[in-house]
Amino acid sequence: MTTASGERRQVSAVRGPLIRFRADPFRKGGGAGGEGERDADALAYEPDGLLVCEDGRITAVGAYEVLREWLPAGVTPAHYPDHLISAGFVDTHTHYAQMDSVAAFASNLSDWLAHDIYAEEQRFTDAEHARQVASAFCDELLRNGTTTALAFAAVYPDSVDALFEEASKRDLRIVTGKVLMDRGAPDALLDTASSGYEDSKALIERWHGKGRNLYAVTPRFAPTSSPAQLEAAAALRHEYPGTLLQTHVSETTDEIALVRSLFPERTGYLDVYDHYGLLGPGTVLAHGVHLTPAERERCSETGTGLSHCPTSNLFLGSGLFSVQDARTGPHPVRTGLGTDIGAGTSFSLLSTMDAAQKIAKSLGHELDAAHAFYLATRGGAEAMGLENTVGSLEAGLDADFVVLDPRATPLLSRRSARAERVEDVLFALAVLGDDRAVRATYLGGRLAHDRDAPNRFPIVSDRAEGRV
Ligand code: GUN
Ligand code: ZN
Repeated sequence: MTTASGERRQVSAVRGPLIRFRADPFRKGGGAGGEGERDADALAYEPDGLLVCEDGRITAVGAYEVLREWLPAGVTPAHYPDHLISAGFVDTHTHYAQMDSVAAFASNLSDWLAHDIYAEEQRFTDAEHARQVASAFCDELLRNGTTTALAFAAVYPDSVDALFEEASKRDLRIVTGKVLMDRGAPDALLDTASSGYEDSKALIERWHGKGRNLYAVTPRFAPTSSPAQLEAAAALRHEYPGTLLQTHVSETTDEIALVRSLFPERTGYLDVYDHYGLLGPGTVLAHGVHLTPAERERCSETGTGLSHCPTSNLFLGSGLFSVQDARTGPHPVRTGLGTDIGAGTSFSLLSTMDAAQKIAKSLGHELDAAHAFYLATRGGAEAMGLENTVGSLEAGLDADFVVLDPRATPLLSRRSARAERVEDVLFALAVLGDDRAVRATYLGGRLAHDRDAPNRFPIVSDRAEGRV
């Protein structure tokens, strides 16, 4: 479309049933809710909605009947009747370099790291291997409706270049960084406090804020970083405001005991990160299964985000994270969902919602469809400090969305036919759905994955040429 001043604008539109959030379903009336209270009207449903997008952003969202007259001439909406359009999924914790190690049998976290993962990550010294995996990883995100992902790369700077390059080709919003680890792992994976700092700095200069790419300073976890490296990580964030920070915390009780022995002068695991100035908005701590109430309160008051990784916690037997404890009560913590590939067992945020609701049930709590979809979209964006950029169908935010198919499988179809409310359909999608239920994924208002026409995208031609 060309404006009166002669500028060319990319305008597109999508029509169909829409879901979005008016408020946080964990908080009563959007305010500070008490134990178990929730806002029953937080989820808004528009049975025939319209999303208008311009230059990558949403410019209007609402009822088709109301908005149709604002559609610029010549723009025909892609129409998805009988589907559900939601904000794209936000994966707040995953490891692209572990994609090919998913489902590796191990008895617990430390055995799994030592026997499988540290060897797998050493393969990423080969830049071509990194590029191939990064390409497959980005395709898999799109097939699963994930439009923003906070991902660990490997320790090697080339592995970060590979992921940012592949994400840029597709216009995916990837937040990643070189893993910092200067102790407690095989030599081939170790950097030093100063080389890790210099390499991260060069990567930030090269990639942070270029297109949709954002950099995350990435100390693996306290057991593999010396105090000097944790200080260097804090310095990087200080020097480059707007970068994020990702690490792991309190995933298993053995890990907590190890951190206590390595940092005896600190009061606990979270206090290590707190002491080195690593908490705050834009910091995402993966797992946090065994955080104490005081530690959760500290996350809340600093604006630190948590990534709940239910399929991973079940796979490794790490413990059961309580979303209820994290999200309700006087000190709510910004919380999203993480697939945690490769300890997690699915790229699908739908499957991840299912695991989260089963864990909640095991702890005697409720996690309904509104809670689950919130965690997988807006909640994830909040955990990353990106709620003004992604995670909701709202004018001004990035036009990233997913078109879900409630009839994707025979069983889903039968269950959806019985549904009385949109919440029933969403719950069935969460419990029974996976990549098959993702009909289409849009990035910046542009169709980036079409389940029913997978070969229509230029990026797929790489594969046809045998390069992927
Ligand atoms: N803790 C430290 N590194 C890792 C990792 O790669 N995966 C998981 N799940 N936990 C970790
Ligand atoms: Zn992880």
